[in-house]
Amino acid sequence: MVNKASGHAVEVRGLRVRRGSTDVFRGLDFDIPRGQITGLMGPSGSGKTTLMRSIVGVQKVAGGTVTVLGSPAGTTAQRRRVAYDTQAASVYGDLTIEQNLRYFAQVIGAPRSDVGRVIEKVGLEGQAKQTVDSLSGGQESRVSLAVAMLGTPELIVLDEPTVGLDPVLRAELWDMFRGISETGATIIVSSHVMDEALRCDRLILLRAGRIIADTTPQGLIADTGETDPDAAFLALIERDAAGAAEHRPSTRREARDEPGE
Ligand SMILES: Nc1ncnc2c1ncn2[C@@H]1O[C@H](COP(=O)(O)OP(=O)(O)O)[C@@H](O)[C@H]1O
Ligand SMILES: [Mg+2]
Repeated sequence: MVNKASGHAVEVRGLRVRRGSTDVFRGLDFDIPRGQITGLMGPSGSGKTTLMRSIVGVQKVAGGTVTVLGSPAGTTAQRRRVAYDTQAASVYGDLTIEQNLRYFAQVIGAPRSDVGRVIEKVGLEGQAKQTVDSLSGGQESRVSLAVAMLGTPELIVLDEPTVGLDPVLRAELWDMFRGISETGATIIVSSHVMDEALRCDRLILLRAGRIIADTTPQGLIADTGETDPDAAFLALIERDAAGAAEHRPSTRREARDEPGE
């Protein structure tokens, strides 16, 4: 059992990121607690992938700090403590599950004994000698998850792992995330499917590169009065668009969409 206490897994202060000619983030601040599942929710283009890339240290940042497990994002020491499953499939279709895992175990320096352990953890013992190309979509997602679990990382970052899966397979994957979290690992998982928000311990809702809510599933429902997560998210978007300043008397109304803000 990994110690769940002591500090945040991720601390972001004043994060600014520019991609191409777009200012994706103009100063983000948030913390992600250890040992929990934090959902990074938001529509396509809201900045989920860019934020995950910043956390794992593969994103060029224009300003601010990202501290992961106590040190700056992307340091060498973190490579074995942090796992990142990108949105694009990262396993080799023409290799078997076992061959893929042996390969990735070697790359990250995980013990060979880990291969059997992670295959069992995602319930693919029966398919271990099958090529990834011969698997169903749900099974392939579980192979990616198995890769992410090699070496027992403290922080697992999963970018839209359930995309394209039917509801039954999505539920199965979420049960696995929960199981991994219960061993003490911190999980950050992105999704644009709002009903998955209810599976998380904490939620960060992104819209157009801004955090419009940093909350919990209970907080989201209590705050909006909506039990349907889609409706709750829409309510937050509407409130955000209306501008909080309008609801505070004697507060100067600030420009919201001006560049350089
Ligand atoms: N390689 C890139 N070059 C320029 N702009 C990009 C690039 N990747 C993403 N963006 C822009 O950054 C913003 C956030 O994108 P992204 O982080 O991929 O969002 P999400 O993962 O939520 O769909 C979008 O406006 C997108 O157009
Ligand atoms: Mg994305």
